Amino acid sequence: MRIIDTLGSLRAKTVIVRVDLNVPLSDGVITDDGRIRASLTTIRELKDAGAKLVLISHLGRPKGEPDPQYSLRPVAERMAELLGAPVEFVPETIGDAASAVISGLSEGDIVLRENLRFNAAETSKNPDERLAFAQRLATGADAFVSDGFGVVHRQQASVFELAQILPSAAGRLVAAELEVLQRLTVDPARPYAVVLGGSKVSDKLGVISHLIERVDTLLIGGGMVFTFLKAQGHAVASSLLEEDQLDTVRRYLADAERRGVQIVLPTDIVVAEKFGADAAFETVPADAIESSRFGASGLGLDIGPQSAAAFAQVIAESKTVFWNGPMGVFEIDAFASGTRTVAQALTDTSGFTVVGGGDSAAAVRALGFSDDQFGHISTGGGASLEYLEGKTLPGLEVLA
Ligand code: 3PG
Repeated sequence: MRIIDTLGSLRAKTVIVRVDLNVPLSDGVITDDGRIRASLTTIRELKDAGAKLVLISHLGRPKGEPDPQYSLRPVAERMAELLGAPVEFVPETIGDAASAVISGLSEGDIVLRENLRFNAAETSKNPDERLAFAQRLATGADAFVSDGFGVVHRQQASVFELAQILPSAAGRLVAAELEVLQRLTVDPARPYAVVLGGSKVSDKLGVISHLIERVDTLLIGGGMVFTFLKAQGHAVASSLLEEDQLDTVRRYLADAERRGVQIVLPTDIVVAEKFGADAAFETVPADAIESSRFGASGLGLDIGPQSAAAFAQVIAESKTVFWNGPMGVFEIDAFASGTRTVAQALTDTSGFTVVGGGDSAAAVRALGFSDDQFGHISTGGGASLEYLEGKTLPGLEVLA
């Protein structure tokens, strides 16, 4: 893959940098700025090299037209604070005003254009529409640096077409993320454990089927655990369930057994009377969820302490650990213990640990852990999972 050095001197050159500034916002306030921080290495390097920087990103999933709740303006402000340098916000993505700002840039200046997804062509299924949009983005630019690792799995105009129009290369973040993923896939130190959580099995099917052939232990938590428990014949009361995935999950369990791969499921579950911070709850065995005092209306919202301790034990004995997806509803304190115990175990082990994904990264930070307690915190959720699934990622392929 071409990386930034291959572009030669960028002094006085206008360089478009695709970053992933898709950060969580609550009432316009950034609740986790990890992705902004992760983008700074490349930005600082290019600024110091005298480039004129035009940053582009998406934020959320607006419907192809301007929507103020998804504006990148607060992100530009936060980035300027973190950089200790001005980051001018351009309130449009393409257009005369944006072109005028870009043509007036001096060496080391940085501008951030408005959300790419305010234009439907960015994510269009039609390659011609994407190409036309990428051409407009490229106007007046000399080079393109692709550093939005979180979106390299998307065949979108600013990720894929733009890289074909301008001289292009990967930035430092993409290169660093790739190095870590290669360490997880090419001869990982063993035992190798993968911890998967999150609500939906259907989001993780590809990665589970691919990893069954490659890991020593697969630990399953989060909402998707109930589909596994049900597949084993246990009633799960009103917990999250994907009925249409039961057969697939049964196949995975049988496949894992045949291959000697351990799939570890929770043995106890924290069951609540309802979803909410004021809900009553109790811990029951995972094979007797309906025996909780909430009966058939009980909701499993976290793995229990016995399960969390067992997961922590496997993590402690592993030399490589990849974790994606919370173990429970960590946003509510009563249901955060499973996620906290797993995070703690990752920070305690001497093995190589990777936290994958925007949500998982935000979870560990929200629980008070810091980035340097882990081997690596990836900025890409879907991107890192798709890489581990063995898929070709368009945004990387195009830089080959
Ligand atoms: C992410 O949050 O995983 C990336 O920013 C990609 O966003 P998307 O799933 O909306 O394409």
